[in-house]
Amino acid sequence: MSQALSEQEIYQRVEAIMQNLNLDQKIGQMVQTERMAINPQEVKDYHIGSVLSGGGSVPGTNLPSDWVSMNDAYWQASVESQSGIPLIYGVDAIHGHNNVLGATIFPHNIGLGCMRNPNLIKQIAAVTAKEILATGVEWTFAPTLAVARNYQWGRTYESFSEEPALVASYADKFVEGLQHDFGDDSVIACLKHWVGDGGTTYGIDQGDTRISEEELRRIHIAPYLPALRAGALTVMASFNSWNGDKCHGHRYLLNDVLKEELNFKGFIISDWDGCDYLDADFRTTVALGVNAGIDMFMVSEKWREFIHHLRDHVNEGRVEMSRIDDAVRRILYVKVKYGIFEKPRPAERKWSNNKSFGSKENREVAREAVRQSLVLLKNHDGILPLKKSAKILVAGKNADDCGHQCGGFTVAWQGVSDSAEERTNVHILDGYASGQAGVQKGKIIGGTSIWKGIKQVCPEADLSLDGSKASNGNYDAGIVVIGETPYAEGMGDIRRDDNTIVEMGSMIKGLMKVLAPYGRSLVLNELHPEDLMAIKNITDQGIPAIVVLLSGRPLIIQKELEASSAFVAAWLPGSEGQGVADVLFGDYDFEGKLSFTWQKHQDENFHIGDEHYKPLFPFGFGLNYRNKA
Ligand code: BGC
Repeated sequence: MSQALSEQEIYQRVEAIMQNLNLDQKIGQMVQTERMAINPQEVKDYHIGSVLSGGGSVPGTNLPSDWVSMNDAYWQASVESQSGIPLIYGVDAIHGHNNVLGATIFPHNIGLGCMRNPNLIKQIAAVTAKEILATGVEWTFAPTLAVARNYQWGRTYESFSEEPALVASYADKFVEGLQHDFGDDSVIACLKHWVGDGGTTYGIDQGDTRISEEELRRIHIAPYLPALRAGALTVMASFNSWNGDKCHGHRYLLNDVLKEELNFKGFIISDWDGCDYLDADFRTTVALGVNAGIDMFMVSEKWREFIHHLRDHVNEGRVEMSRIDDAVRRILYVKVKYGIFEKPRPAERKWSNNKSFGSKENREVAREAVRQSLVLLKNHDGILPLKKSAKILVAGKNADDCGHQCGGFTVAWQGVSDSAEERTNVHILDGYASGQAGVQKGKIIGGTSIWKGIKQVCPEADLSLDGSKASNGNYDAGIVVIGETPYAEGMGDIRRDDNTIVEMGSMIKGLMKVLAPYGRSLVLNELHPEDLMAIKNITDQGIPAIVVLLSGRPLIIQKELEASSAFVAAWLPGSEGQGVADVLFGDYDFEGKLSFTWQKHQDENFHIGDEHYKPLFPFGFGLNYRNKA
């Protein structure tokens, strides 16, 4: 088995393979493209190193067996190529194997941060690895080690915390849970996005992180150290810039810091067409990216052109052969260390099509994570826990919608909605991804909505999404599940002012993608006025409201908080909604502590450690039943 190989043996093996590769075969290894853009024959003809699924890009009917068949065909083609090097297939399994129907969907990272439980993180990563392996896939673009510092950023929910030490405490465990000892239960991890993605000014996705090197290292680089020590095999470059220079072309950050100073032995993959923004001319971007230190290129469609340009650059001396050799050695190092050469075809691997995919046992781990991630912000007169015999009205647009409770990066890139309500205001300004824009109507298979979880333990509960039924029943309390609807990446940004984009665009030399934002304000009542209406429909009848907020970030909640008797931040809990009822009805106590500071006003941006730190709720805040305030 490969895990028994010493580093020296791995490198001997790498050298032996290198001896037999010509330039085309080497360049092929440096290419990763999207499954929609390539068929198995082309993988074989061009010696392609990797194929990926972009968010929501799925084969056939999107069941594990469809994935295994697809990967089997790609694998077969790769080993039949002249170089015979097996390809690796990459996915964004960032909160469970979230593209696939029937997968166990865990809370997004923001909720996991509130658990303060590194051991459970390792277990979550291990369960995710097995569900990934069930589909014949070897590589996930996770964990995200972003340290989000501005909640206007649409990717805040992918961040465990605003606090680098908390992110760091999960980073190694996540990698260990995914990679194990590179035996049958392991997948390859990918730390992302290197580096400073969570620090952009105004929280603009892919924007500019304007901070000193000291701050970059202390806040954004720090969580990578334990993950690298744990042996993470790949790192993804980030779309953002650092003080005006794009990370994808940043030789100092990619080569000098990551590879040389931090001694990273694996390979760096670009983000989705991430080098395109280095220059207006695609041909030039190829040389800039390779020379800066990117080893494998995630090229969504133009992989033929990429190969053509890179070959020319080498032949004409703009890219040194030694740089190509370094990139390919790194890719082969990862493949040998992972043991891909010894693995049988995907269909014959230990976990392929395994029935543990989406199983009750796996879902129990997710349900535990839901319970531990809930943060109790208010509990007036000890209204919680509720009695199971109580007459409860369940309301709010997010009460019975598994798609909404899973958030973005679930089945579709932008997430799915079980209800008729869909975001139609989303448009793509420069034809960004081949993925679907906007929230798709669609179902999450398996799992339980928050409403169904409540109904299971509280037979007297009724459902009325807008809360209007409150007037004709004799209810003891209402549970109102409100908040954001799904979004991903830049489409989740809050942009209060378009000038910010213009200003930041010029800071990064005019090259920037601009996506329509989620909204113009962090104030919940301005984003979603229907939520307060649902609460009022209940409280106006003299019925106390327990509010459960689903959101990818702390929002400004003054009005909703005042109107409620109890208030729970549930983040984006994923498929196992029963975890919410488990705690509301007292079978379990609240354990969650805020992993982000909760601001009072949207003009504030306090972080733990700041002078004059006066937020609404501080970092680490969280009530429970045991310690009555
Ligand atoms: C995201 C990455 C992701 C990649 C592949 C990009 O848009 O920034 O986080 O891994 O797509 O889907």
